[in-house]
Amino acid sequence: MSTAKKEYKRVTVKSLIEMKQNQEKISMLTAYDYSMAKIVDDAKVDVILVGDSASNVMAGHETTLPITLDQMIYHASSVIRAIDRALVVVDLPFGSYQSDPKEALRSAIRIMKESGAHAVKVEGGAEIKESVKRILNAGVPVMGHLGLTPQAIYKFGTYTVRAKEKEEADKLIEDALLLEKLGCFAIVLEKIPASLTKIVSEKLSIPTIGIGGGRYADGQVLVIHDLLGMTHEFNPRFLRRYMNLYEEMGSAISQYVADVKSLDFPSEEEQY
Ligand code: KIV
Repeated sequence: MSTAKKEYKRVTVKSLIEMKQNQEKISMLTAYDYSMAKIVDDAKVDVILVGDSASNVMAGHETTLPITLDQMIYHASSVIRAIDRALVVVDLPFGSYQSDPKEALRSAIRIMKESGAHAVKVEGGAEIKESVKRILNAGVPVMGHLGLTPQAIYKFGTYTVRAKEKEEADKLIEDALLLEKLGCFAIVLEKIPASLTKIVSEKLSIPTIGIGGGRYADGQVLVIHDLLGMTHEFNPRFLRRYMNLYEEMGSAISQYVADVKSLDFPSEEEQY
């Protein structure tokens, strides 16, 4: 049997379902701007999420709640201009889809039309069923997001692991099945026990993408700033840092400051 992975010139929502069927894990990372998205796409990450975590890592807010639809469209358009291969999914921001299905559809259409993105992501299950239906009916692919849903942080009160108790775990399973039935193409599972991720992933034919959901998810997602070590105060157990860019960038910048002050920069060769 050949173990060669299929090459995807362009990743689509269909490719992700195929990856699950072929037991190929899906890689997903966030990006919010052109330069970063180009690096991420060239590295062959399957899905780029223009996450509302931009509210934290790009704008410095404490939560994801303040970011607006216009700001998400700005980030998404910058990312779209950079990519050749990845599927680009954009978070519908807090307040743009929960209250009214028609408003949800208008928000999704604005993202698709004004940024050129390929799909949207929403947080929640049964509570947002009508919004999800309305968006899907218009032909816009939808990714779900269950478990720790940061847009509901004030309801939860903390960022601790979700669905450890049976009642919440049962609701999460029901929500996942509902999202699949409605037609979502994938579901993010954030900060839930690995055993629950395993149950959900085995029950669904669409892929699950974990963040703090353990190894049984069909794919994994991280915030790019965390993976690169640009953020250094956020240290959840699930995070693997591949670099310490906070220190590396800091020391490069300090060296630049020293070189300017000491007249070392620019040198003869660096001037006209
Ligand atoms: O906004 C985001 O970055 C996300 C990921 C944490 C999944 O939703």
